[in-house]
Amino acid sequence: MHLLVTGGAGYVGSVVAEFAVAAGHEVTVIDNLQGGKRAAVPEGCCFVAADFGDAQTLDRIFFSSGRVDAVIHLAAEAAIATSVTDPAKYFVNNVSKGLTLLEAMMRHGVRRMVFSSTAATYGEPRTVPIAEDHPLQPINAYGESKLMFERCLTWFHRAYGLRAICLRYFNAAGATARHGEDRPEETHLIPLALAAATGKRTPLPIYGTDYPTPDGTCVRDYVHVSDIARAHLAALDHIDEIGFDCFNVGSESGYSVMEVIRATETVIKRRVPHVLSRRRPGDPAVLVATASKLGRVLKWRPRQSSLEAIVESAWVWRKRFPDGYAS
Ligand SMILES: NC(=O)c1ccc[n+]([C@@H]2O[C@H](COP(=O)([O-])OP(=O)(O)OC[C@H]3O[C@@H](n4cnc5c(N)ncnc54)[C@H](O)[C@@H]3O)[C@@H](O)[C@H]2O)c1
Repeated sequence: MHLLVTGGAGYVGSVVAEFAVAAGHEVTVIDNLQGGKRAAVPEGCCFVAADFGDAQTLDRIFFSSGRVDAVIHLAAEAAIATSVTDPAKYFVNNVSKGLTLLEAMMRHGVRRMVFSSTAATYGEPRTVPIAEDHPLQPINAYGESKLMFERCLTWFHRAYGLRAICLRYFNAAGATARHGEDRPEETHLIPLALAAATGKRTPLPIYGTDYPTPDGTCVRDYVHVSDIARAHLAALDHIDEIGFDCFNVGSESGYSVMEVIRATETVIKRRVPHVLSRRRPGDPAVLVATASKLGRVLKWRPRQSSLEAIVESAWVWRKRFPDGYAS
């Protein structure tokens, strides 16, 4: 297939593009580099440095690059805390520009999308582990914007025959040999822990120690970014017969922030300096998936998502790229 990957210079997008190229797909990446790096775009991809909300650029890509068979839509604003204090850009990037992309796809007869959704669509869980039929009541604008776009996709499916699969990732983590986490303003736990351990940043703040969890810190489900990439390829294989659906992508194991810090210290054999801090707005106490639907329907199983394998791979990547990507 010829795939258009939005956000392919970012963390998850670069790994999805890496796996798609390895699987023999032709890949065009569009990324405006607001958070991603040119050097993260895998070899073998055609790269367009542009905003995916620019209709003229999209028309050019869909016209000039030959037929695009499917879009994998990862580009987004994706930091939970700022979505609470500055929601506007979340709705613009994640909903409004997404609609521009969908309209361009419809103009050019591109009728398949795999969409990067999130566990944040569920909000504060009523039952754990969280299944796809759990109520959708986001508690931050990030989750709300992703849910709104999921709903746009259902309407495009019904009205225009769009085939769409929403993958609700839990916490993407880990690295491949070539691609890892390198954001200008990092907010994710494992890269922050590695940066604190190597003296590249100040001690790691732990936001909230009074959550109703065994050690008082938030519990999350960490899933290896390679396993997430495989879920995208499985989704593409089945998208025509499925039509529209949403799937959790998680390891089904929950670890608290303190457990991740301890695991990191064990793997890298260094201390992770940290400070206890107050809760951040918008963080649910526990987010752990059941991914049985993904297993049943798309035959997906996590292969590399043990916490140790995740931290080890992130550490190997960080040692290879101590200052991140060159550009
Ligand atoms: N990382 C996670 O744990 C996680 C969990 C759940 C869902 N997701 C979703 O997965 C996707 C990728 O996340 P990530 O962690 O790789 O984020 P990231 O910030 O590393 O990558 C996002 C990429 O999108 C690009 N981008 C943003 N807006 C753009 C625009 N308007 N035009 C063109 N490019 C644009 C950025 O430059 C960046 O390269 C996001 O949609 C995110 O919501 C991530």
